[in-house]
Amino acid sequence: MSALTPKTFTSQVKTINTFGQGLSNDIIKNEPMFFNSGFDFAMEKGGDITRAFLNALPLDWKRSGMVFDSRVHMLMPGWYPAIPGWHHDDVPRVGDGQPDYEKPAYRSEHILGLVNAAVCPTHFAVGICTMPAVRDGEVIYKYWDKEVSKLIADERMYIEVSKDRTMYYFDCDTFHTGTKAVANGWRWFGRVSRYTDRVKSITNEIRVNAQVYLEFPTQGW
Ligand SMILES: [Fe+2]
Repeated sequence: MSALTPKTFTSQVKTINTFGQGLSNDIIKNEPMFFNSGFDFAMEKGGDITRAFLNALPLDWKRSGMVFDSRVHMLMPGWYPAIPGWHHDDVPRVGDGQPDYEKPAYRSEHILGLVNAAVCPTHFAVGICTMPAVRDGEVIYKYWDKEVSKLIADERMYIEVSKDRTMYYFDCDTFHTGTKAVANGWRWFGRVSRYTDRVKSITNEIRVNAQVYLEFPTQGW
């Protein structure tokens, strides 16, 4: 089961706060990275950027069950910090590994923030959009990525470019994508999620590796 009938989404994003305004980009490279972390663990083990981000969350997010992930990337022009393509975050996956749009078990919500966003801003696609049915066993976002791009080209959706040190609230209906870095520099990405099964299995992991993705792997030598 995946998306056996066309699906209509209200893809939207809301700016809710800023964070870390007084912090220098120079400290990004020293920031610990977290995966599947709870609030308290990240507050205790995190650096100034992590704490600034978590402190700036709305009170109800701090109090409810949530999970935090962050990444630090050293980027060069043309590199991607994430696999590109329009997608939704944390739609529950089912048997075939594809997101379940027929009967999702939960509807996740997220808050995302970047430090030094200009190097490689996340893009959000805004608008009401209908995505085509996708046959069972097919990769949904392969088709929907093309559809969102087409709607943007036709000016039926528009792109909101994430700004530096700004917190964006969105949900599992919000199409977004990582982009190709346009400059050299360090980039911090942080995201908290709630109303997801992930909060039931917090593992408080610190990560020491972050990969990038290249369009043309042999370029750059
Ligand atoms: Fe995402």
